Amino acid sequence: MSSKEQWATRVGLVLAMAGNAVGLGNFLRFPAQAAQNGGGAFLIPYLVSFALMGIPLLWVEWAIGRHGGIYGYHSTPGMFHVMGEQSWLKYIGVFGIFTNLTIAAYYCYIESWTLSYVFHSLIGTFAQTDPKIFFSDYVGETAHSLFAFPLEAGIWFLITLALNIWILSKGLAKGIEMAAKIGMPLLILFAIILVVRGLTLPEGAPGVVQSPLDGLNFVWNPKLEGLTQPTTWLAAAGQIFFTLSLGMGAIHCYASYVSKRSDIALNAASAGWMNEFVEVILGGSLLIPIATAYMGLGAVQSATAGGGGFSLGFLSLPTLFNNWGWFAPIAGAMWFGLLFFAGITSSLAMGQPIMAYFQDEHEMSREKSAWLFGVSILILGLFCVWLYPGGAFDEYDFWSGTFSLVVFALLEVFIFSFVFGIDKGWKEITRGADIRVPKIFRFIIKYITPVFILVVFIGALIQPAEGNWILACQSLMSGDSWPFAANSVIGKLFHVGVDSAWFTSEGMGTKVMVQDITRLLLFALFAGIAVMIYLDFRRKGGSR
Ligand code: PHE
Repeated sequence: MSSKEQWATRVGLVLAMAGNAVGLGNFLRFPAQAAQNGGGAFLIPYLVSFALMGIPLLWVEWAIGRHGGIYGYHSTPGMFHVMGEQSWLKYIGVFGIFTNLTIAAYYCYIESWTLSYVFHSLIGTFAQTDPKIFFSDYVGETAHSLFAFPLEAGIWFLITLALNIWILSKGLAKGIEMAAKIGMPLLILFAIILVVRGLTLPEGAPGVVQSPLDGLNFVWNPKLEGLTQPTTWLAAAGQIFFTLSLGMGAIHCYASYVSKRSDIALNAASAGWMNEFVEVILGGSLLIPIATAYMGLGAVQSATAGGGGFSLGFLSLPTLFNNWGWFAPIAGAMWFGLLFFAGITSSLAMGQPIMAYFQDEHEMSREKSAWLFGVSILILGLFCVWLYPGGAFDEYDFWSGTFSLVVFALLEVFIFSFVFGIDKGWKEITRGADIRVPKIFRFIIKYITPVFILVVFIGALIQPAEGNWILACQSLMSGDSWPFAANSVIGKLFHVGVDSAWFTSEGMGTKVMVQDITRLLLFALFAGIAVMIYLDFRRKGGSR
């Protein structure tokens, strides 16, 4: 085994793990999810999911990672291989390579928007051009064909990738840890400045139509009705997965560089709580309150219903900042700068597992593996840049960024408790621990978390139209079919509610064609990774 890398300091490790978790999800996805699901009604299912699924899975993933690292494995195929005798275990690790690669491909693309928007804020682009028009031009939506290539976006994408490759090739301590030590404090500082500025906007200031505190109140005021809404639960659990980087193999990888007797219990909890602080306290007090002040709460809710947090973050906010006079370009640069730091500390976490695989299995050097990661993301990402208007991006996000995570997490908790064994697992979590992990979590990990994830999984699979479960059950009882929602897994798979033709009557390619091709690509990639693992492990003769 080649990689002998280690984290330099404990603070660095926790910051890197927090940087891994704190990402675009905290500032764009969380506020949008909260707004779409009734604000405070979202909060309780969200916090329950954090306690019953988030925290337990964090411990499980840190434990699997450190355990694999002891055997010299730093990516999921090897880690699962050493969890039991069964030869199929290593293939569970396909997920940990696949999700990181594909999420990185579209994630780095958004990360590149944030970098480009820092630049455009500073040079005052948004004072002249309507950000909505700018955005459509930028991503190529205004072009006549679904297949036009957006040049400027492509260039910023290249710059972003180069930065990632450069940091990754410097190694764990000098690259990733350093980036987190610089990026995380700056991100928190920028966020605090914007939160204070936003929340103190006086009513009656130019452009202000409503108190920003109404926005805060909307997100924060717990409402019990969310508890009885399966769709809200689904959204809350999905957000916990995404924001904590669970079910991806990214946490496992960072944890595999922790030495055998060092604490993981407290470290995992600290990084997890830090993510929640940034998400709920900072993320929840930024986008929605500022947007509420200038647009009114109703408009904010309808804006998030369509394009999620992206439309608010990239389309509305730059316009709203224009009310801030001389501070507008700086506010813009801070907002997109903090998004950039949040993004890059996460995309590095997606790169390291891929590099680690090639370093471990092919004795590849750090530099070479960083380049290999960069080139793979370039290819997969350009596909996404090019076909963004056709919906390739959303396909990546759904199949890799949502669906795979849940499947992988389900398999991993099951393997942890029943193949590896909860006795060994519990020892693994508590060895060297600097806190006493409450015993109840042993029970939670073994029974509650898997059932919780299973329910979420089934819910996502067969979610009924309009999220109306009662109506769907009635329909089934009366002999009709189950009305799958268009955004349920089955609904997506079979293009429920859309015309599934690949070509228009004029012979032009349709969105469905782009979607199907993207899915085939993703599937081929998944299968290709499995074959690679088969060949690599056969070559080594199945040795440990
Ligand atoms: N947790 C990150 C976010 O909130 C996303 C992420 C995905 C990070 C995969 C690492 C790996 O944006």
